Amino acid sequence: MTATADRHAQTAVPIHPLLASRHSTRAFAPDVDLTDAQVTALLEAARWAPSSGNTQPWRFLLAKRDTGEFKRVVDCLNPGNREWASHASALLVAVRTEANERGPLGHAMYDLGQAMAHLTFQAAAEGLTVRQMAGFDAAALAAEFALPETLVPTAVAAIGVPGDPAALAESVAGPDRAPRARLAIEDLLIKP
Ligand SMILES: Cc1cc2nc3c(=O)[nH]c(=O)nc-3n(C[C@H](O)[C@H](O)[C@H](O)COP(=O)(O)O)c2cc1C
Repeated sequence: MTATADRHAQTAVPIHPLLASRHSTRAFAPDVDLTDAQVTALLEAARWAPSSGNTQPWRFLLAKRDTGEFKRVVDCLNPGNREWASHASALLVAVRTEANERGPLGHAMYDLGQAMAHLTFQAAAEGLTVRQMAGFDAAALAAEFALPETLVPTAVAAIGVPGDPAALAESVAGPDRAPRARLAIEDLLIKP
């Protein structure tokens, strides 16, 4: 595993600058609202992701800060995520469609992840940062928003303008201070 304290990805050859600079901070600039154009751009990026059979098994629940919906989503986060995530401009619940009228959608998890990768890239282009979370109570969230059984909350993304990591509370600052690390390319390749 290679690790670096630099927030930029260290790569063997140059990659797209937005991919190299993207990282998931827990620090958000306070009191910044997403513009309607930014929200639309994020959703367009997700919408145009590829999916198995073009089934598009992704749905999104967008909750902007200072709304009742935002508070309801925050309440479903794990305690360790609640404090920092409540400063984000918006929380986006990424929901997968488990089945459609033709049957189960076996690649829904994969497809939703791909849509979120597109959204994350577009966010970087908009000057925004995204930190995704698996640390939330999916059953509570589904119940809170009366989602049907086929719609499964899979991740919650905190979205906003990057803030100052130095201003983070000690208890949540860990990931922003730890070196960024990745497996080496050789370790990703399965030897035939
Ligand atoms: C599906 C998923 C779940 C995650 N869950 C959490 C979480 O609950 N809390 C948190 O602080 N970060 C969470 N993260 C952020 C990861 O820890 C982070 O993306 C990873 O350490 C790599 O850092 P980077 O995005 O800055 O490259 C999650 C990321 C993903 C993609």
